[in-house]
Amino acid sequence: MTGSPRKDPMSQRKLFVTTALPYANGKFHIGHIMEYIQADIWVRHQRMGGHMVHFVGADDAHGAPIMIAAEKAGRTPQAFVGEIAAGRKAYLDGFHVRFDNWHSTDSPENTELAQGIYKALKARGLITTRTIEQFYDPVKGMFLPDRYIKGECPVCHAKDQYGDSCEVCSSVYSPTELIEPYSTLTGAKPELRSSDHYFFQLSNPQVVDFLQAWTQDGKLQAEVAKKAGEWFEAGMADWDISRDAPYFGIEIPDAPGKYFYVWLDAPIGYLASLKNHFDKGQARDHWHAPSRTAASFDQFVADPSVEQVHFIGKDIVYFHTLFWPAMLKFSGRKTPDQVNVHGFITVSGEKMSKSRGTGIDPLKYLSLGMNPEWLRYYIAAKLNGRVEDVDFNPDDFVARVNADLVGKYVNIASRAVKFIPGGKLVAGHPSALHPQKLVDEVRALFEAREYGKALREIMAFADEVNLRFDTAAPWKLVKEGRGEDAAKVCSDCLEAFKVLTACLKPVLPELAAQAEAFLKCEPLDWTNAAKPLGAGHQVGEYKHLMQRVDMKQVDALFEPPAEPVPQKPVPGGEEIAPVITIDDFTKIDLRIARIVECKAVGGSTKLLQLTLDVGEGRLRNVFSGIASAYQPADLVGKLTVMVANLAPRKMKFGVSEGMVLAASHADEKARGGIYVLEPWPGAEPGLRVR
Ligand code: MSP
Ligand code: ZN
Repeated sequence: MTGSPRKDPMSQRKLFVTTALPYANGKFHIGHIMEYIQADIWVRHQRMGGHMVHFVGADDAHGAPIMIAAEKAGRTPQAFVGEIAAGRKAYLDGFHVRFDNWHSTDSPENTELAQGIYKALKARGLITTRTIEQFYDPVKGMFLPDRYIKGECPVCHAKDQYGDSCEVCSSVYSPTELIEPYSTLTGAKPELRSSDHYFFQLSNPQVVDFLQAWTQDGKLQAEVAKKAGEWFEAGMADWDISRDAPYFGIEIPDAPGKYFYVWLDAPIGYLASLKNHFDKGQARDHWHAPSRTAASFDQFVADPSVEQVHFIGKDIVYFHTLFWPAMLKFSGRKTPDQVNVHGFITVSGEKMSKSRGTGIDPLKYLSLGMNPEWLRYYIAAKLNGRVEDVDFNPDDFVARVNADLVGKYVNIASRAVKFIPGGKLVAGHPSALHPQKLVDEVRALFEAREYGKALREIMAFADEVNLRFDTAAPWKLVKEGRGEDAAKVCSDCLEAFKVLTACLKPVLPELAAQAEAFLKCEPLDWTNAAKPLGAGHQVGEYKHLMQRVDMKQVDALFEPPAEPVPQKPVPGGEEIAPVITIDDFTKIDLRIARIVECKAVGGSTKLLQLTLDVGEGRLRNVFSGIASAYQPADLVGKLTVMVANLAPRKMKFGVSEGMVLAASHADEKARGGIYVLEPWPGAEPGLRVR
C-alpha cells in the first residue's frame, strides 16, 4: 500500500461516521467513552489515509423516560436535555474524541427528516394503523410504557415485578398478565384502554426480502448476521412506531395527539446532525480536495460513493440492522454500509449498572490528572473487530500503559537522542527494520478495527528497536571512541520512533503531536509514515513525553465517592410516622404558592401573615408560625409549598386559609430553627406537588 491516496481522487473515500446517540437523561459513563474512543480511532485512521470523513454525534432527547425524568427534576424536557447536552464537551474534549458536529434529535432538522421519511413510507403503503389495548394511568393521564408497570408475576407470584419480565423466575409476559398491576409513577391501578397505533409493516414480504438480503450479504460481523438470521426465523412482526400524548417527541403528520416512538426518530438523528453540520457550513473543513466544492447535505447523502458507517453497542443491534435499514431503504434513501458492533466494557469483571455506574467516572479520571491517552491506549489494546466484551482491570491497566507506552515507545526517543550530536541525524540503515511492512499491516488492522492486534504489532516493532539499541550499546561505542557508529544506530532508532509515532497516532493524537514537534517532522499520515526523515534532518530538544501511571491515582479513581453516612435517629429526633397508602397521601393537596405579601402580626412574636398566590385567580391569607426564623422581607416574592385543601381555621388575628410547609426539629426552639420549603427554579404558582 504505497503511493498517496490524497493525490488520487479516485481512491479518496467519503465517509459518514456516527456513534450511537446517547440518551440525554444521564452523563456519559465509561461505556460511552469506550464507544467514542473506538470510533474516533477509526476516523483518525481514515483521515491519515487522506479520506474525507464527517464524524457526527447527537443527544437522543425524546421518549417517555426523559419526559418523566425532566418532570421529576422540575424542568421542561427541553431545558432538561439542554443541561445534559451542555455537559458533553468536557468528556469529548477530555478524551480527545473529535466529533465534527454534535446535535440533538429534538431539533428542526430531525423533525423535518423524520416526518419526511414517515411520509415516504406511508406513500409506499407500508404504514398501517391498528387499535391496541394498553394500560393507562388514570391519575397521571397517560398510557404507561411497560417499564412503568409493576405487579405480581403470573408465573411464580413474586411481588413487584416489571411489566415485561420477572426478575425472579425470568418468565416473559405482557403487562396485562400481571396480577394486581400498579403504575410505578402514581401507584394507581392501571386501566386497559384502547388507542389507535401506527405500525411500520416490517412483515411485508418486500421488506422481509430486502432485510434478509441486506443482513446476509457479508457486510455485517459474522455473529451479528447470525443473530439477524435468528430473528428472521422467529418471524418479523410489524413495528409499533406511535405513542400517544403526552409524549416528548416528534408529532406524526396528520395524526393529532400521536408522536413517533423515540426509536423511530433516534437514528434519523444521525442524518439530522449531518444536515446541521452541512448547514453550518463546516462540512467543508474536512473535504481534502480543495478543487471540489462541498456538496450539499442532500447531494452528499444521495451520493452512491459515500459510505455510511455506524458504531454501536451489542444491545441495539436490532434497531440498527432491521428497523433502520428498512426505514432508509423504503423511504428511498441509501442504507448503511457498515454497522460496527462492539461488546460492553466491564470493570474488574463487573457489569455496569445504569443507576450506580462503575468504578470509573470519566470526569473523575480527568480531574485526577490522569492522562486520557492512557485510557485510549488501554481500551484500544483490548478491542477487536468482534462483538466481545472488554474488561478494564486496574492492575493490568497500570502494567500495560507503563510497560508499553513508557517502557517501550517513549523510551526509544529518550535513549537514542542522547547519542546524536546536536540532534542531527546521520546516514544509517533505517529500512533494515522494514517500516513500510509495519505501516501496511497496522493500517489494515485499524481498518478492520483489530486495534489490539495493531498495537501488538507496533509493540513488537518497538521491542526490536530496543533490542537493537541494547545490542549496539551506544554508550559503550562512545567510550570506545566510536561515537559515529553510536550516532548511526541511534539515528535508525529515531527513524523507527517516527514510524512508531505515525502508527500510534490514531490512538494517541496528543502524544503523537508532541513527538512530531520533537522530531520536527511534517504531520504524520499513512503516506509519509515510513519515509525516513533522512540524514541531516535536525530533531528538536527532547522533553519527556509521557509520565508513568501512578498506582495511587488508580486507587483514588476507585475510591468510592464520599457518601453521607446514614444517620441514626439523633436523640430527640422524630421517628418516622406510621405507614400511609398513596391514597392517604393524595388526599393532601400540596401546591406551589408565591408569597405576594408578608407582614409581622401585631401582638404575636410567633406568627407572620402571608398573602399567597396559588394560581386560583384569588389570593389566600395564611398565618404561619415562622416569625422566629424569617423577616417578612426575606420571604416576599419567594415560592413555597402550601397545603391548599386544609379546612380554613379561625384564629385570633383572622382566618387562615391553608398552611405553609417548613422543616424543623420537634423542639425547634431548642435546636436548629425552621426552614421554609422552596421549590427548584421553574415551578409556578398552582402546580401540584405529588
Ligand atoms: N439512545 C440509544 C441509542 C440510539 S442510536 C440512534 C442508546 N443510548 S445509550 O446511552 O443507552 O447507549 C449509547 C451507546 O453506549 C450504545 O451503543 C450502547 O451500546 C453503548 N453502551 C452502553 N453501555 C455500554 C457498556 N457498558 N460498554 C460499552 N458500550 C456501552 O442506546
Ligand atoms: Zn416470576
